[in-house]
Amino acid sequence: MKLAQRVVQITPSATMAVKRAADELQRQGIDVIDLGPGEPDFPTPEHIKRAAEEALAQNFTKYTAETGIWELRDAIAQKYNKEYGTRYTAENVLVTSGAKQALYNIAAAILEAGDEVLIPVPYWVSFPEQIKLVGARPVFVLTGKDFRLTADLIEEHITKHTKALILNSPNNPAGTVLDRKQLQRIIELAHKHQLWVIYDECYEKFLYEGEHVSAVALDPERAIAVSSASKTYAMTGWRVGWSVAPKELTRAMAAIQSHTTSHPSSISQKAALAALTGDQSCVAHMLAEYHKRREFVLRELRTIDGIEFVVPKGAFFVFPNVVRCFNGQITNSADFARYLLESAHVAVVPGAAFGAEGYIRISYATSLEQLREGLKRLREGIAQVYG
Ligand SMILES: Cc1ncc(COP(=O)(O)O)c(C=O)c1O
Repeated sequence: MKLAQRVVQITPSATMAVKRAADELQRQGIDVIDLGPGEPDFPTPEHIKRAAEEALAQNFTKYTAETGIWELRDAIAQKYNKEYGTRYTAENVLVTSGAKQALYNIAAAILEAGDEVLIPVPYWVSFPEQIKLVGARPVFVLTGKDFRLTADLIEEHITKHTKALILNSPNNPAGTVLDRKQLQRIIELAHKHQLWVIYDECYEKFLYEGEHVSAVALDPERAIAVSSASKTYAMTGWRVGWSVAPKELTRAMAAIQSHTTSHPSSISQKAALAALTGDQSCVAHMLAEYHKRREFVLRELRTIDGIEFVVPKGAFFVFPNVVRCFNGQITNSADFARYLLESAHVAVVPGAAFGAEGYIRISYATSLEQLREGLKRLREGIAQVYG
């Protein structure tokens, strides 16, 4: 079959591949502890589910505006104004089928073939693939050992083709967080070189140290915020995300969306509205749980010989370096993840998927009980190969 070049060059999601391999072992009756998932294990809070039931009961089941319903766009604009001191209106907001579609809309709206987009490493798996899908070129910015990103590191990669920069804070997979000073300098650099700053803040509410600074608070003309209900409200399957951008760009992205998916499900939009405007204690509750799990995981990992990690400040991942576990048979992160899955029955994601060979991603979006068993298996698996 002759497929289009744009699809031949993309890499299928490695996180999904881990899930498939783990599912296959489980089908064979093997008990696998899955530390791979990038989604909350909590159920969607009750009041959000009730809003969806009400939407159904009221037959709110038809097309909505392609931009998303006005009340939800307004609620998102108000959230930004309240939390980040911006002055947005509903017209700055486009409701999308998850942050993933918001990111794709942005790429389709601002990039031409041959444009370059800077992506700091490690990065979320879909950033480079989406850039390639619209004919542009991802350019990777290597960060230091502690994954610290600086304006100087970015500047080294700017050429006359550079059009945008994608930042993700808190970061998936490393849990690193950009502080105000760092972000300020990066925004100044973007201003100097006339670059868009695409700011993925999907994990904005899951922060354990420091503060979350939104790039749109520093420069609403240059920065485009992308976030979603998926992680904050444990709503991954509902598919509601958004972009917050200058109005002209939002109109362009709405035109693209009007010819692709139109809008997220009408019912999901009502649920997301309840999530954003309702009681936020569910978010605090989930954060407190992640906090406990993070403490446990970090404490355990510190006692495992053969790995090293940077303490994550946000999201729900740890990203240890495992090169000291490589040997004649295990020569890279994919081999190592396969070894852990097949021999220790614990699933993790190889760092290569995030552009960082030599690392693995461990998710703590799973119960303490599962984490306890998972880390025990990880410890035993590593002991077999380390040294
Ligand atoms: C950094 C980052 N951005 C975007 C997404 C996509 O989320 P959504 O479910 O809102 O499409 C994810 C999901 O894993 C993510 O980790």
